[in-house]
Amino acid sequence: MKKSQTSRDEAAAWVRFWDGRERGTEHRYRDPRVAVVLRQHWQHCLSERFEGAPVVSLVDIACGEGELLRIAADCASGAGVDEFEACCTDISRNAVALAADAMPEEALAIPAVANAAELPFADAVFDCAISQYGLEYAGPEAFSEAARVVGETGSLHALVHCQGGVVEAACEEVAALLSAVVDGRLLGRLAEYVEAMVPAGDGAISDETVRDRVEQLRHGFDAVDEAVRAAKPGPARDHVARLVVDSRTLASRLGHYAPADVSAWIGGQKLEIEAFLHRMTSMLDVAQSEDDMRAVVGRLEAAGLRVEALSVLEAPGQGGALAWVVDARRSDAC
Ligand SMILES: C[S@@+](CC[C@H](N)C(=O)[O-])C[C@H]1O[C@@H](n2cnc3c(N)ncnc32)[C@H](O)[C@@H]1O
Repeated sequence: MKKSQTSRDEAAAWVRFWDGRERGTEHRYRDPRVAVVLRQHWQHCLSERFEGAPVVSLVDIACGEGELLRIAADCASGAGVDEFEACCTDISRNAVALAADAMPEEALAIPAVANAAELPFADAVFDCAISQYGLEYAGPEAFSEAARVVGETGSLHALVHCQGGVVEAACEEVAALLSAVVDGRLLGRLAEYVEAMVPAGDGAISDETVRDRVEQLRHGFDAVDEAVRAAKPGPARDHVARLVVDSRTLASRLGHYAPADVSAWIGGQKLEIEAFLHRMTSMLDVAQSEDDMRAVVGRLEAAGLRVEALSVLEAPGQGGALAWVVDARRSDAC
């Protein structure tokens, strides 16, 4: 009961994450070199898979904004596939819409909003099921579901978050920084400060309250400044440092802005930081151990797929694991 409640909350948080989001924002905190390694991995894997196939039907599961789907479309075009029939599915309606909208005209994708543990497809309908950091968010059943929709000569390719890997380490660092903003209530303190300095209607605020709110805001800035100093350089640190600068500017020039704009800005920044913190902590929650992955292999084999070997995709530069690689085929697939 508790577990399903937790997964419902997680799914709802992901839906909130995607709501109103524009394309290109999901991987805001990712090291650009990681994108290159991921792309090269998929190009190698999918170009080989598509070579000589006139028709390919493919589903990208937990597709997000469709980064992988677009790589697959490029590979299909490069491999000379005549008919590329793609579907993209995710728990979020906005995510599948972004993914489908970003496809080139000659390779349209049909979007389907679905929990990856309960895919809305018949058995064995796809030549290829793919997922990048996706299936694990829906729990172990999602691997069985992905296997179920793979057709007779089909295959399943997935990259899965890895316990002890570099993504986990990076997420921990970013989560610590974002938590300093959220737990330290910087934006809440800013909103309370604004309320004291620009009281709504004719409500008077005592001098003592004003002094207290100023002091609280100062503490909030100090705590986040300290977290920024302790953080590693990178896009997350830049983002939070900019938020602090913008918040200080806002606080010191309140008279220049319309009150409604101020509260909309603070509310927007709060939602944004909370959404990204959730994204980081949910990645930490779903990172899979070697034992977890052995259980996944057992599931795939029980569903009639053959798993070549459990391997790891290495991160660029610093070494360490970027992801578990799942490469599974129906027994007679080439
Ligand atoms: C880390 S993102 C990866 C997105 C995309 N595959 C990529 O690599 O850019 C995880 C994705 O899983 C989706 N997701 C989370 N829980 C899900 C579930 N139960 N079923 C389907 N999708 C889910 C989220 O909405 C999000 O788009």
